[in-house]
Amino acid sequence: MTNLSVNIAGITFKNPVTTASGTFGYGEEFRDFFDPGKLGGIFVKAVTGSNREGNAYPRMAETASGMLNSVGLQNKGVDHFVREIYPRIKDFDTHIIVNVSGSTIEEYVRVAEQINELQNIPAIELNISCPNVKQGGMAFGTIPEMSEEVTRAVRNVYKKVLMVKLSPNVTSITEIAKAVTDGGADVLTLINTLLGMAIDAERQRPILSTITGGLSGPAIKPIALRMVWQVHKAVKIPVIGLGGIMNATDAIEFLLAGASAIQVGTANFIDPMASVNIVEGLKAYLQKNHIADVNDLIGALKTD
Ligand SMILES: Cc1cc2nc3c(=O)[nH]c(=O)nc-3n(C[C@H](O)[C@H](O)[C@H](O)COP(=O)(O)O)c2cc1C
Repeated sequence: MTNLSVNIAGITFKNPVTTASGTFGYGEEFRDFFDPGKLGGIFVKAVTGSNREGNAYPRMAETASGMLNSVGLQNKGVDHFVREIYPRIKDFDTHIIVNVSGSTIEEYVRVAEQINELQNIPAIELNISCPNVKQGGMAFGTIPEMSEEVTRAVRNVYKKVLMVKLSPNVTSITEIAKAVTDGGADVLTLINTLLGMAIDAERQRPILSTITGGLSGPAIKPIALRMVWQVHKAVKIPVIGLGGIMNATDAIEFLLAGASAIQVGTANFIDPMASVNIVEGLKAYLQKNHIADVNDLIGALKTD
């Protein structure tokens, strides 16, 4: 018997493979491909205080080994999520975690309070790292004092597991990780997208309407691995790792670096089966290497 389950801040995940916010909708969109119950969890698309249309098109650009997006937290707001979406997804046989976003501390707090009331949501992921909104978003996640302040404000109202998603667009990821931990986070997730841009040389114009956008996909994996490894060593709370995970080998690398679970993001756009294939690949790796428990991989990187 191979054990794939992991316990993160008191929540048991049947396996450490989850899907990243903004890349897997609300999970229902993928039901034609596979049963979402096969995953450890689903991090749903960002939920904000009220309706947001997102940024103007074009807001996607393909790059070498990755993609740029500037979707900008498009969603219909927390009331709509609670009323329309939650009832449709609440009985999935996996953990649904809501990505909470905002422009002000008050907005984060208000959304967190409303999500706190939803019985089948065991955790939120506070998105203090979105590079694609004019106000708030990444601004919170790049300044240690502000990261701590918004985390603490949400901690005061949110009674379940508080995960905070970090921005890689900083000089010292461990400084932010420590600030967020001091603010009361239970779990850190990292990384969000890296700020980048793409230019159309013929038109001599930026490709994205917002000029800059967030880079994701294989191009960012080495940076994400480095940050997960640094943060895992710097704080005592669990880390969930993501950034360019395309297959089981990538996922295993994040576990070795210290991630207690992983999220699959851009890979879902290339292959809707990517996440569930990673579960199978992880199981095969453990069996092949005679490792009885996936927990034995977490932070097991040999550096001496
Ligand atoms: C189209 C798109 C939309 C995204 N929307 C969100 C979002 O709403 N909230 C969030 O925290 N991250 C969002 N992200 C970031 C991803 O969750 C993830 O952190 C990032 O893409 C890195 O992982 P990857 O390389 O596996 O895609 C989005 C990414 C993409 C590509």
